[in-house]
Amino acid sequence: MAEFVDLDKVPKVKIYTGEEIPGIGMGTFGSDRFSAKEVSDAVAGAIRCGYRMFDCAACYGNEDQIGQVFKEAFEEGVVERKDLYIMTKVWNDMHERVEESCRKSIADLQCEYIDMFFIHWPFPNYHAPGCDVESRNPDSRPFSVEEFIHTYRQCEELVEKGLIRHIGISNLTIPKLEAVLPLMKIMPAACEFELHPCFQQQELFDYIAAHNIQPIGYMPLGSPKRPERDICQEDIADMEMPGMVEIAKAHNCHPALVALKWASQRGQIPIPFSVHEKNYVSNLKCLTEDPLTEEEMAVIATLERNNRLVKGQVFLWEGAKDWHDLWDEDGVIVK
Ligand SMILES: NC(=O)c1ccc[n+]([C@@H]2O[C@H](COP(=O)([O-])OP(=O)(O)OC[C@H]3O[C@@H](n4cnc5c(N)ncnc54)[C@H](OP(=O)(O)O)[C@@H]3O)[C@@H](O)[C@H]2O)c1
Repeated sequence: MAEFVDLDKVPKVKIYTGEEIPGIGMGTFGSDRFSAKEVSDAVAGAIRCGYRMFDCAACYGNEDQIGQVFKEAFEEGVVERKDLYIMTKVWNDMHERVEESCRKSIADLQCEYIDMFFIHWPFPNYHAPGCDVESRNPDSRPFSVEEFIHTYRQCEELVEKGLIRHIGISNLTIPKLEAVLPLMKIMPAACEFELHPCFQQQELFDYIAAHNIQPIGYMPLGSPKRPERDICQEDIADMEMPGMVEIAKAHNCHPALVALKWASQRGQIPIPFSVHEKNYVSNLKCLTEDPLTEEEMAVIATLERNNRLVKGQVFLWEGAKDWHDLWDEDGVIVK
């Protein structure tokens, strides 16, 4: 497998510390559809074909199986720990116990330390994995700057203790960033948020990049196999957009690869998921060859449809109007 991907050509991006990190990672959310075994088998194959970044999370329920795969790769001499860039996230029910969550992820992933440790969502609103879209937790509450910074401080301590190398944030908005960035002692190295051709979040992307925070785009392909709760009738399939299909034809490839080339050339790190070897190999390889032209990049820029797929209904608090309240669309934090 590895001989098909020229590892020297896989893009890297520089974060604000000056360190270069992989320009593409593999997602590991089994999406309520793929077992931990299927996902960890894919991680094993992905390491061997040249992936070096993995986007894990405590709430994906598969870190111990993925850790076993990392351990085997280290023992077999496929890679050393330092060659991998391992990311994980603290789930909403552990915002008061961040170190415990981090230590558990390190133990499960068998990886000694975490390269990038994210606060998965900016509030402690817990919902059980796989819950229904209508489910609500009576303890849920709106975003609080104080609560978020309390959680963030615990991440800063983890850097100081050497348990994590970089801090990441996720699912934030410009008004929330405006409120919390000035309070941070250690700046976040990356922000993970939803990005695909029909949901480009240009303003947020520009804001984050202007603050020297690396954008990491989740659901880079428009997540065709996302959980039922995240599927709405009006959603648009990115990979079926005529503009995407046409560019894919010109490059003799699947529209998925067009989405990844676009993401990388735009400056975000895509973290596509697949359990199928053919797909995850081509997802990596496509960034080493045959880039999109400026004209094609311009065509994809016109495909923006404001089609948010993760609306986040299950995180809503009592009194919230609807999922739009989570995303501060009027430019102020909704409370
Ligand atoms: N921070 C957050 O809150 C957050 C939220 C959501 C997701 N994430 C992260 O982002 C990652 C990616 O998101 P995602 O998994 O939802 O969606 P995605 O990567 O946009 O889409 C994954 C789906 O696309 C298909 N696919 C992959 N490569 C393909 C190819 N070359 N050709 C055709 N189809 C292809 C796969 O189907 P097959 O299985 O058939 O290959 C797979 O089920 C997650 O795994 C997770 O790590 C983070």
